[in-house]
Amino acid sequence: MLIRHRPHGIVVAIDGPSGAGKSTVARLLAERLGYIQIDTGAMYRAAAFLLADGGIELSDLAGVEEFCRDLEIRFELFEGQKLVFANNRNVTDLIRTPEMSLLTSRTSALKPVRSALLKAQQRMGDQGGVVLEGRDIGTVVFPDAEVKFFLTASVEERARRRFEELVAKGETVTLEETVSDVAERDRQDSERAIAPLRQADDAVPIDSSFSGIDDVVQAMYAHCQLKLSAREQ
Ligand code: DC
Repeated sequence: MLIRHRPHGIVVAIDGPSGAGKSTVARLLAERLGYIQIDTGAMYRAAAFLLADGGIELSDLAGVEEFCRDLEIRFELFEGQKLVFANNRNVTDLIRTPEMSLLTSRTSALKPVRSALLKAQQRMGDQGGVVLEGRDIGTVVFPDAEVKFFLTASVEERARRRFEELVAKGETVTLEETVSDVAERDRQDSERAIAPLRQADDAVPIDSSFSGIDDVVQAMYAHCQLKLSAREQ
């Protein structure tokens, strides 16, 4: 296999179902490594938001494809907060509602959306020095990533965490609704035809149901250090 030279470091892929803790873990791991974190779920959310906002039906594949041609998503750091811009519009908070989660799960199954974001993610990570989190990073976006993790937790535990996040943000939801939303997204993300959620054969599985965030990040960091020292020899 061709070994790519990545001048800024290795590519770390973190995949797994929604609510497993990928975002927090990816952010902390990226900080410890001095790498850039790329939240690919936020990119799918931003695309879904703009499509809905533009009144483009998901069944109108030609319309979706045309929209994706000019889609530009970028991250910006502002006063320590990571902001998401889609076509120059700040969508950071708009993309985090339960409705957007379900809509994004459906939107992200569409081929034109996946093709556009696949290319954008590969461009962002190509030079290395990145931690990418998503569903298909280790299988499709960077199958040659030097380090791959598959982070899971039980449906109940993931729903409980999501529920607490939503309540803290002032959303009115019930735990039962959140369990059912999480289960529905799992189903949509795993059963879609293109780039479904799947553990790469060479990914390290980590179950976060009973572990604290710090322990998970420490285990991941140690694994990355091993890869990095092997790379230097
Ligand atoms: O990680 P998240 O919950 O913000 O992701 C939102 C949706 O985007 C999720 O339902 C699946 C989809 N997604 C995807 O299909 N591929 C990725 N690499 C990242 C997210």
